[in-house]
Amino acid sequence: MYIDTRCGRSQRGILSTPNRTGRSYLQKPFHAGSANPEADEPDGQNKGYVLATGRSAVDRLRLLDQIFGPASRQLLTRVGLSSARRIAEIGCGTGIMTMWMAEQAGAESSVWGVDNSEQQLAVASAGAKATGRQNLSFHAAPTEDTRLPHGSFDLVYSRFLLCHLTNPVPALEEMWSLLRTGGTLVCEDFEMSAVTTCPPTSAYQQLIEISRAVDRQRGVDSDIGAKLHTLLAEAGCREPEVAVYQPAFLRGEPKGFWKVTLREAQPAIIESGIASAAQMDSLCNELERIAADDSVLLLIARVYQVWCRKS
Ligand SMILES: C[S@@+](CC[C@H](N)C(=O)[O-])C[C@H]1O[C@@H](n2cnc3c(N)ncnc32)[C@H](O)[C@@H]1O
Repeated sequence: MYIDTRCGRSQRGILSTPNRTGRSYLQKPFHAGSANPEADEPDGQNKGYVLATGRSAVDRLRLLDQIFGPASRQLLTRVGLSSARRIAEIGCGTGIMTMWMAEQAGAESSVWGVDNSEQQLAVASAGAKATGRQNLSFHAAPTEDTRLPHGSFDLVYSRFLLCHLTNPVPALEEMWSLLRTGGTLVCEDFEMSAVTTCPPTSAYQQLIEISRAVDRQRGVDSDIGAKLHTLLAEAGCREPEVAVYQPAFLRGEPKGFWKVTLREAQPAIIESGIASAAQMDSLCNELERIAADDSVLLLIARVYQVWCRKS
């Protein structure tokens, strides 16, 4: 494996301002079906994100939710989702959790999904339109300036976002600022280094090496889950709570999760010189072979769930 150490890329969101109705805070909201999911990302947006966006991201994010969603839903229910009236998801992707929260919190609630990828938001808004939900809106903005009103949310949520950010503290500060007193911030993220198999396999060791090389090059941290409690403290949160879990699989679709993820990231990995196309093909073949071998247990990334109430 050869590793290059060129640095990451910058990201930028669109401008928008709050309106007076309290329902939408955008110059350019994503009404359901209003954008083309096949369109290229506008210049300057999401350049640092190595995974697919838009329709190409749908299957992997659905699989991700199949694996990690039950624990996310359990936690959000436990911290009081059903009584939350104003909810925001930052880095909402294709809106899987945003839509679920809008459904759980009911028609009286207002739920906002924010992402800096217009392609993700186009898929999210099309999904929202299909459900006929009126209490849901999506808009494009960067994490550190969501253009949502500060001090007004009961619940602010992010899942698998912070591992993609070169500077997560301003994003956490923004999320914390969005909360009203008594509101709750919930963040979930990976510890990628904890991915392993029993018995150990060199393919999964290589996967972690590639992930670390991508992290170094882009200035991000896919082990950020284990640091979330300290980052939250840096952002001003007091006395966060933490729960940790790690799903494991012997067989089935979830066992192919890292192969699917690696294939999505493959163009960026090859372009950056971290691995060649031949190395990627050989690694993906090996991950596929392991997925079909039910004598090998896959422990998918460890997930840290951190939440904190604003007092
Ligand atoms: C792995 S996906 C997770 C999506 C969703 N939270 C879920 O769990 O299904 C990460 C999302 O973060 C978004 N993202 C990455 N960098 C971002 C940034 N700087 N500002 C806003 N969103 C960002 C990506 O576009 C992507 O939709």
